[in-house]
Amino acid sequence: MYVATRQRISTQSTSVIGPVSNQSGESTVSNLTPSLVSSRRSFLKKSVFGLIPVAALPFTFWPVTARAAQMLHSSLLSTHIAPSSRIADLQIQLRSYPRAIQLFPDNMTDVWSYEMTVTTGDLKRVQSTGNGFLGPQLEVRKGERISIEYRNDIPDESIVHWHGLDVPADQDGHPHQTVPANGIFNYNFTIKNRAGLYFFHPHPHGKLGEQINRGLVGVLIVRDDEEDALNLPSGVDEHLLCVQDRRVNANRQFEYLTGGMHDRMMGMHGNELFLNGERNRKKMVRRGSQRLRILNGSNARIYNLMWSDGRPLTVIGTDGGLLEKPMTTTSLLLAPSERLDLLVDLTDLAVGSTLSLQSAPSQGATGKPFDIATFEATAEVGVTYQTPLSLSKFDLIPATEAVNFTAPKSFQLIPTRDHGWTIDGQPYDMHGASTKETVRFGDTEIWEFDNTLANMPHPIHIHGTQFQVLSRKSGGVSGAMDNGWKDTVLVMPGDKVSVIKRFNTERGIFVYHCHNLEHEDMSMMRNFIIQ
Ligand code: C2O
Ligand code: CU
Ligand code: CU
Repeated sequence: MYVATRQRISTQSTSVIGPVSNQSGESTVSNLTPSLVSSRRSFLKKSVFGLIPVAALPFTFWPVTARAAQMLHSSLLSTHIAPSSRIADLQIQLRSYPRAIQLFPDNMTDVWSYEMTVTTGDLKRVQSTGNGFLGPQLEVRKGERISIEYRNDIPDESIVHWHGLDVPADQDGHPHQTVPANGIFNYNFTIKNRAGLYFFHPHPHGKLGEQINRGLVGVLIVRDDEEDALNLPSGVDEHLLCVQDRRVNANRQFEYLTGGMHDRMMGMHGNELFLNGERNRKKMVRRGSQRLRILNGSNARIYNLMWSDGRPLTVIGTDGGLLEKPMTTTSLLLAPSERLDLLVDLTDLAVGSTLSLQSAPSQGATGKPFDIATFEATAEVGVTYQTPLSLSKFDLIPATEAVNFTAPKSFQLIPTRDHGWTIDGQPYDMHGASTKETVRFGDTEIWEFDNTLANMPHPIHIHGTQFQVLSRKSGGVSGAMDNGWKDTVLVMPGDKVSVIKRFNTERGIFVYHCHNLEHEDMSMMRNFIIQ
């Protein structure tokens, strides 16, 4: 039986249930770019016939709709050209490339990084996130049209995915769009998302874990008028906190899967914690209100956030932007790819004293909390921000809006002997989706993730529009973030979590997967098709 977690949400909020807003963007014009097509065609041969293990072949008979095959085929042969009616507001060059950086005093560390330059538009939209391995931060506004030329200069195939953004299927970095080393992919899309913290990372099949572990993550901040009107702490009082762990060896190199099958089944856990790609996790802050925008960019580690002095966490936003109302709680789990937007008032800190955002043991685990980020108060007095009672207005999607309200689709999170972690026991099939994974454009559906059959937490991420968490079998006592708009939901062992999603903005092939990247690379990913 389900216990509605949304009752908890709705008692905290005055939800406005209104008409479904159709945010469908402009139609994009497909065209052929000969050089790109030929390099992708030759790559296609390799990917279709080279990468799929023979053992997986029987599973390719999993039903594939004709429409799906056709859509996949046409998107392989086309690239997007910006509609001539509208020039991009921002033109950007993005590159992934290998380099060595000084993270430790005694040796350089080899990493892969993203670098970004604005070629047309406001140069200040791209900012460095520090001197570590984390990629740059791109700031865009809702409604802007951006065009990005991505050049892959790492010695491996790759493609970029805009995590959390609602973009057309052929702009989403689906694994079949992977370009070879030195390949180029041109992106053109309009920012339809609400203000929030999003990010970008590679998405070539079977290689996300390794490529992200080497350093390939960049940050994307969307701003809009609704958020601007709140006058939230900004400038020196607004902080990005991307937390990532890495396994660092004696030569100061990042190791990957050195623990073999154990690392693959549990996900890669490191021995060093990095904040914004650096080892320094201390921030000097003014004594006043601070806005902390937290991204768990780790491959597999889940953090249980709390303040070192036990003060409540004040949450104002999550994956898909602002909540309706601020929420306070003592601790919150943050799984890979989840985001949290926190406010904290540090007016009471004495000059030179510190407050730490920590990760405490959870799920009956023992051990000491460890610091993720430490804030040290300077003599400077900042601004005291009065957190508004209402942050944003959006509709809580009514369960009855779902076409499968009476029979939600259920997906089992289970390991198999042949494929390791899977969804429904199936390996990833780049070329199709099942009937269950086929959705009619415009429909709202309820998807339930069933984690009652195995004993690992799985942060399940669905590409495309943001969804809402509808219910948890556990009644919402898992400690996970369920309020607001989400693109990743943490499904704890023993739990069944239902989410409700509107498939009303784009058609085409997308993926959903576990964001424990080793699970995802293993087999815990599937296509879904909106047609
Ligand atoms: Cu952040 Cu499909 O991923
Ligand atoms: Cu994503
Ligand atoms: Cu998983």
